[in-house]
Amino acid sequence: MKTQYYTAVSLDGYIADPDHSLDWLHQFGGGDESSYPEFIREVGAIAMGSTTYEWVLEHHVYSDPEHPKAWPYEQPTWVFSSRTLPPVPGADIRFANGDVAPVHAEMRAAAAGKNIWIVGGGELAAQFHDRGLLDEIIVTIAPVILSGGAPLFTRRIATPPPRVVEVKPHSSGLTQMRLELPKVGEGGARAAAES
Ligand SMILES: NC(=O)c1ccc[n+]([C@@H]2O[C@H](COP(=O)([O-])OP(=O)(O)OC[C@H]3O[C@@H](n4cnc5c(N)ncnc54)[C@H](OP(=O)(O)O)[C@@H]3O)[C@@H](O)[C@H]2O)c1
Repeated sequence: MKTQYYTAVSLDGYIADPDHSLDWLHQFGGGDESSYPEFIREVGAIAMGSTTYEWVLEHHVYSDPEHPKAWPYEQPTWVFSSRTLPPVPGADIRFANGDVAPVHAEMRAAAAGKNIWIVGGGELAAQFHDRGLLDEIIVTIAPVILSGGAPLFTRRIATPPPRVVEVKPHSSGLTQMRLELPKVGEGGARAAAES
């Protein structure tokens, strides 16, 4: 069971542009090479921040307000917010606020041996890292430069560096990279958090 931050990112490190648009990503299409179907099969619980949640509501669930679509995930989903947000009827959405560690314990129990997916954003993923709870970052890198927007990650992880365990170029122009974060005993914030 792993806790994975799986996301797409521009070459200069943004997961959304300043208008929270993903058009720069969607121009590459989904494609047969996407790892998403295989990835999501192994996911047992999901976490996301409120901006990401509101993006999914606006661009997916209520993109046609008169004909709402189903929540796109079957797995229980924890949405972090200090505000009161609307749930989606019929979806297993649980709201959380504050320390990610007790929420991670709940997610782990719900996932029953499957992986935990941190959808984003970068500050929420960093909070899991701070508590020694993030195992991998899986990024699909788009060859575009946005010059601003929502950052991939908001902490420094440099020494020791993450270990690149897989790089897969796609014919669409996207490249997926899987990185393992430094473990206990290898130094860095994660080891410090777990010591
Ligand atoms: N490229 C991709 O594949 C991809 C993937 C995911 C997301 N995205 C996009 O990237 C952008 C990310 O937005 P973002 O950087 O604002 O991040 P976000 O994590 O989606 O939202 C951040 C907000 O979540 C709440 N939050 C975070 N941690 C919390 C905690 N511990 N307790 C309580 N509330 C907490 C806070 O808002 P409040 O307390 O005010 O509610 C915070 O301002 C969105 O546009 C999203 O659609 C892109």
